[in-house]
This record gives sequence, C-alpha cells and structure tokens, in this order.
Amino acid sequence: MRNAIFAMKTVWVAGMVWGFLGQAAVGSDDLNDYAHSKEAQEYIHGSPEQPTDTWILSSGGRIYDNWWNALDRDPPETTHPSYPEASKKSGATTWRCKECHGWDYRGADGIYSSGSHYTGIPGIYGAIGGNETAIATLLRGPDHGYTEDMINDEELARLAAFVSRGQVDISRYVNLETREIIWGDLNRGRAIFQSTCAACHGFDGRAYDWGEGDEHAYVGTEAAAAPDEVIGKILNGHPGVAMINLRAFGPDAAHDVLSYVATLPQ
Ligand code: HEC
Ligand code: HEC
Repeated sequence: MRNAIFAMKTVWVAGMVWGFLGQAAVGSDDLNDYAHSKEAQEYIHGSPEQPTDTWILSSGGRIYDNWWNALDRDPPETTHPSYPEASKKSGATTWRCKECHGWDYRGADGIYSSGSHYTGIPGIYGAIGGNETAIATLLRGPDHGYTEDMINDEELARLAAFVSRGQVDISRYVNLETREIIWGDLNRGRAIFQSTCAACHGFDGRAYDWGEGDEHAYVGTEAAAAPDEVIGKILNGHPGVAMINLRAFGPDAAHDVLSYVATLPQ
C-alpha cells in the first residue's frame, strides 16, 4: 500500500514537473501575439489575437456604452421598441444599453430614477454573476432585438461577460442620490492623470473640448457633471476613439483619477 502511494506520488510529481515545463513551452508560444493579420494594429475596432479577460471586459463595457461606435456599425434609425413612449429620447440613442439601464447599472433605481433619461426600466445590477450564454440569448430576444448585423456573436459574448463580471458598484464612488463624487485619493489620481490621460487631454484637461459655442465640455466638466459616466469611460475607454482605459488597474485607480479630474478646469 505504502509503495503504491509512493509510486503514485512519484508519477504525480513527475507529471507536475512535466506539466510545468510543457506549460512554459506553450506559454512562450502563447506570447507570440503578433504573428498574424493587420487586425493586430487596430486598437479601436479590432481585437487582439490572445484577448485577456481584462480586454474582453473593457471591450464589453464600450459596447454597453455605445455599440455602433465601439464596433464600427451604422447607428439604428428607429427608436427601440422597448423604449417607453412617455420617455424623452428617441432614435439611435434609445438602442444604447446605458440609455435604459444607466451608467450606474441600476436603471430606474439609480441616477435615472428621474430626469431626461427616466424610463422606469430596471437595471442590470441583478445580472451580476449570471450565466453568460443566457444573457447573450436574452439580448437576441424580443425585449432587446439586437441582431447579428448589429452585434455579432463574438461581440455579444464580450458584452455578456461585461454584464456578468465587469460591472462595478458605482455607489462606492458616486452618491447615487445627489450624483456627487465620493472623494478618492486625489494625489494618486493626479499621478495617474499626469502620466497617462494628460498625453491626450493635456495637464489641465482642456486639450479636447466637445462642447458647442461658448459651452465648454472638457474632461473636468464631464467628471463633475456626470461622474457615474466618466468612471465608466475611465474603466472601459470611450467607444470609437483611441482612448486608453484603466481596467487592468481596477476600479479604485479609476476612482482616484475620476476624483482628480473633477478638480480640473471646467
Ligand atoms: C429600450 C430599452 C432597453 C435597452 C436599450 C436595453 N435593454 Fe436590457 N432590458 C430592457 C427591459 C425592458 C428588460 C426587462 C426588465 C424586466 O424584467 O422587467 C431588460 C432586461 C435586461 C437584463 C436582465 C436584467 C436582470 O436582472 O435580469 C439584462 C442583463 C439586460 N437587459 C442587458 C442589456 C444590455 C447589455 C443592453 C445593450 C445591448 C440592453 N439591455 C439594452 C430594456 C432595454
Ligand atoms: C490616446 C489618447 C487618450 C488618452 C490617453 C485618454 N483619452 Fe480620454 N479621450 C480621448 C479622445 C480622442 C476622446 C474623444 C474626444 C472627442 O469626442 O472629441 C476622449 C474622451 C474622453 C472623455 C469624454 C467622453 C464623453 O463623454 O464624451 C472622458 C471623460 C475622457 N476622455 C477621460 C479620460 C481620462 C480620465 C483618461 C486617463 C485615464 C483619458 N481620457 C485618456 C483620447 C484619450
């Protein structure tokens, strides 16, 4: 008996060593990420050969934000059939997941409980941990009606992964009653901002202005007015442009950046 156990252990240990060496060899092949098509250079609408979970979740988050910009499709021309007639929006924007379910993922229980985005539709917060195949099937169903031409199966799987595993608890970072920021570590936020975001947005956050006329909209303006939206942009990126995202560093880093950005000129 003892000998049998000893023999089994030896086989097991040998297996571990072999497995480890085997894995190391496969591992280095796996890291040969670039021996393929020009897709590899398409940061905005392409996908990596070896997508990490981090990339999948941020990509899913951009699809949630605005799928046609994220995926380079034409925006729909109709109003979404499930969008309530009594609500205030119409046309393409009613097909954005965020328009019905909110930036805080809480729908009518969150920041969209009133105001111009009110629909009365519940959030997706309850779908955290849900079966991803079931979520994808739901999105093809009658309440949603997303066709393969809009979001293909592989892209839908990224979105479902985001719904199940990519949502963060926005109420830790933003007061959902007042829409004010719950302040994070401003110094860490400043350090991250100066060495990443500032490359495009400038040290004062005013290099891009997406306002109109005299109404400026800088990164600082946006962070103060809609922090729930901006923390999503920081974690997932802005769909359709070459903006970086901080998904790999986690929500607390994003929260610190959000806090600092809200102190920049508006
Ligand atoms: C026009 C409004 C509308 C849009 C846009 C919309 N949904 Fe929904 N969603 C609904 C409605 C209505 C329900 C059903 C709510 C209920 O059960 O009462 C729902 C339910 C869900 C649920 C189930 C929630 C749960 O807890 O069971 C998920 C997940 C979901 N939607 C994800 C998405 C995603 C992802 C998108 C974007 C691709 C999206 N939805 C876009 C209206 C919308
Ligand atoms: C590589 C360039 C680049 C970097 C780095 C970058 N961004 Fe952006 N960002 C953009 C571009 C481009 C836009 C779109 C501007 C436009 O629509 O005119 C944008 C848009 C935004 C928006 C506005 C989205 C909206 O609602 O319209 C926010 C907020 C934002 N960035 C925050 C940040 C933060 C915070 C960081 C650092 C974590 C960052 N960005 C890093 C390029 C960048």
